[in-house]
Amino acid sequence: MYNLDTIISLAKRRGLVFQSSEIYGGLNGCWDFGPLGVELLKNIKEEWWKAMTYREDIEGIDASILMHPRTWEASGHISQFTDPMIDNKQSKLRYRADNLIEEFIDKLRKKKKNDKADELEKKLASAKEPEDYYNLIVEYEISDPVSGSKEWTEVRHFNLMFKTFIGPVEDSSAVVYLRPESAQGIYLNFKNVMDTARQKVPFGIAQIGKAFRNEINTKNFLFRTREFEQMEMQYFVKPGTEMQWYDYWKQQRWDWYIKMGINPSSLKFKAHEKLAHYANRADDIEYFFPFGWGEIEGIHSRTDYDLSRHQEFSGKKLEYVDTVNQERFTPFVVETSGGVTRSFMAFLCDAYKEEEAPDANGKMEMRAILKFSHKLAPIKAAVFPLVNKDGMPEKAELIYKDLQKRFKVTYDTSGAIGRRYRRQDEIGTPFCITVDGQTFEDDTVTIRDRDSMVQERISSSRVTEYINEKLINC
Ligand code: GAP
Repeated sequence: MYNLDTIISLAKRRGLVFQSSEIYGGLNGCWDFGPLGVELLKNIKEEWWKAMTYREDIEGIDASILMHPRTWEASGHISQFTDPMIDNKQSKLRYRADNLIEEFIDKLRKKKKNDKADELEKKLASAKEPEDYYNLIVEYEISDPVSGSKEWTEVRHFNLMFKTFIGPVEDSSAVVYLRPESAQGIYLNFKNVMDTARQKVPFGIAQIGKAFRNEINTKNFLFRTREFEQMEMQYFVKPGTEMQWYDYWKQQRWDWYIKMGINPSSLKFKAHEKLAHYANRADDIEYFFPFGWGEIEGIHSRTDYDLSRHQEFSGKKLEYVDTVNQERFTPFVVETSGGVTRSFMAFLCDAYKEEEAPDANGKMEMRAILKFSHKLAPIKAAVFPLVNKDGMPEKAELIYKDLQKRFKVTYDTSGAIGRRYRRQDEIGTPFCITVDGQTFEDDTVTIRDRDSMVQERISSSRVTEYINEKLINC
């Protein structure tokens, strides 16, 4: 068993993720991806892009982050994209009121007070207004988890969108927002894409990009951050067919995580009891993180809410004309909305293992390993000369340079060979190639498999071909 700190420390030590602005003391809710992190992030996005857009019915776009401010009036974000916020008068700590109640429910369950937990959970599901949350906190005597104080302020709604200004004058007419989701850029381009790509309903538009939310509490590393990346697809369908497409996309997205190597027993669907204002059905795909279950992707049936609202607010028709059946309608939308950075964390947690393995002398020791799927592994192969003499570095470098033409590979000469293997295990490199004394007798090298630790000898001229075959789908 390991906890989140093990993952955070590995991520920092091996250059996957750093705290943003660390030398200035850090910036809460923001993280930087280091040399290995950016490779993993790129691989996740590339695999998603291939799965979602290398098909005839889905087109990709890359819309700008800043959008016309009317977008957010139409989408409902200005009036409804809020979280209930509460402050403790004694500790001065600020909480999301719903999270505070959820944590209290968890505590009740741990104390086996399941009836009370169920009752409160039901009441929380129907809470809407600030006073609903406040009343629950008072009724159940929920205290500040840090100070134990029960002295609370009123609950207020807090809008999560980051505001800024366009142009030099900072007045209300210049206000724009950093997008809190990438989906709206897709709705605004619905007609542009349909017309230029000559798509017919049903079809989809996919996008990967940054989103920003001024979360009240950021927590659990990359799980809830203020700047993050999403990979979203909106699938436009004929009204009445949305549930059939919903089931199709729900399955597709589940299958994708399994194909990317996630252990199925660490995944589950969770149906939404409380639906967003635009949805008629919604499920989350949840991953079992070291801190418990958490959403990594949402599948939402969004009806015609978004297109209808943008039609109303812009005065521009966003309809589909079916010339074959002589009908005209506003398509319904089935959305798949995943977090790149949140699934990065799920892939990282899922790949992390600690296991007993023999060292160079056959003595058992603990090895930490990231068992990434070959597709996601940041570095695909490492090349080592056994020693830094006798022509070994020169030979190893030739192999390294050849592999580098196609793959992200690394070259390492420092330390005992066993330690070099362990270093690669810890970052999830699937193959290690070693040039040794025998290389100069029969022109072979060893190739070690990360998971089985089995070493094969193959001709040095076959290394690139061998890795190509192993990574054929990567
Ligand atoms: N367009 C719909 C939408 O944005 P969402 O459930 O709010 O739906 C979708 O977000 C996904 O975006 C989540 O499943 C999660 O992976 C990611 N996400 C949302 N808020 C996040 C945050 N503060 N930090 C990291 N990822 C976040």
